Amino acid sequence: MNLNKIRLVSGMRPTGKLHLGHYVGVLENWKNLQNSRDSLFFVADWHALSTSYEDKLNLKNLSIDLVRDWISSGIEPEKANLFIQSSIKEHSELYLILNMITPLGWLERNPTYKDQLQQLSSKDINSAGFLTYPVLQSADILLYDAQEVPIGEDQRPHLEISREIARRFNFLYGSNILTEPKEILSETPKLSGLDGRKMSKSYGNSIYLSDSRDEVINKLKTGKTDPNRIKKTDLGNPDICIIFSYHQEFSHSDEVAEISENCKTAKIGCVECKKRCSISINNLLEPMREIRTNLTDNYILDVLETGGSKAREIAKKKMQQVNKLVFEG
Ligand code: TRP
Ligand code: SF4
Repeated sequence: MNLNKIRLVSGMRPTGKLHLGHYVGVLENWKNLQNSRDSLFFVADWHALSTSYEDKLNLKNLSIDLVRDWISSGIEPEKANLFIQSSIKEHSELYLILNMITPLGWLERNPTYKDQLQQLSSKDINSAGFLTYPVLQSADILLYDAQEVPIGEDQRPHLEISREIARRFNFLYGSNILTEPKEILSETPKLSGLDGRKMSKSYGNSIYLSDSRDEVINKLKTGKTDPNRIKKTDLGNPDICIIFSYHQEFSHSDEVAEISENCKTAKIGCVECKKRCSISINNLLEPMREIRTNLTDNYILDVLETGGSKAREIAKKKMQQVNKLVFEG
């Protein structure tokens, strides 16, 4: 732990393989931040349980697979501290105490909570655990005195609640031992899926970081192009083409400019354009595939254990301070 560096904490729920949208939206950000921050990245397996307690998922395997995706895409265990939330019991201890001081109204008014209740209407998430999801998230953050938390837009209300809880705790106990965290919002807009909707596992429109070369090639063949371009001689409009949006993200800027020009003037056909797009995406994924071959379950479990011990040390100290205030007045 480097005391001069800004402490940063972020978590991800283990809900399945990561896709290019995760890479562009989250992992690229983490990769940059791990160089300059004292970073703790953890698998939020308790959070996953709040929405999938009925699904009998193997959260242990899902957690290992998630960390395999992280490391293969360039998160380095030598730089960032990687661990599993449920391996640090202090998260649950702080969560319990914070639950005591959190007004129900803050949780019931949380817009992300209301949204999710509607969106996940097929699941029974009318539970105490789901309502208090942001309290657990606050514990994740406050336990480590995180100054910065990289998150997506939908997580903003949760971070606001973390700050409010920190403030309330400090006020109630006349202390300043909990640090109010700042969010770092990822700038990149969401990557579209092959069908033009948001890239998401549930739509079956994703390109996964763990896809093979041929899977990428075949998936791109199904990608949505300019719908008005039926014959190769039709002039195209790259601005409404999903394949082009991938070129913009993953191809060299010279190639992007060339393709844009050639599409508008019908000098390139969609078949060739898609082939070139799959080359760019495979160029990104190939090094990940190479790293992945060395990432056995045992290696990953080792990494998580080392990361976990370091995190536990910090968490233990914080809980000592918190418990002293709460129980010894
Ligand atoms: N709720 C976050 C999400 O779904 C995951 C998460 C759990 C998290 N605890 C966190 C993110 C703490 C940042 C900090 O994306
Ligand atoms: Fe899209 Fe490329 Fe076809 Fe133009 S040539 S419509 S950019 S796939």
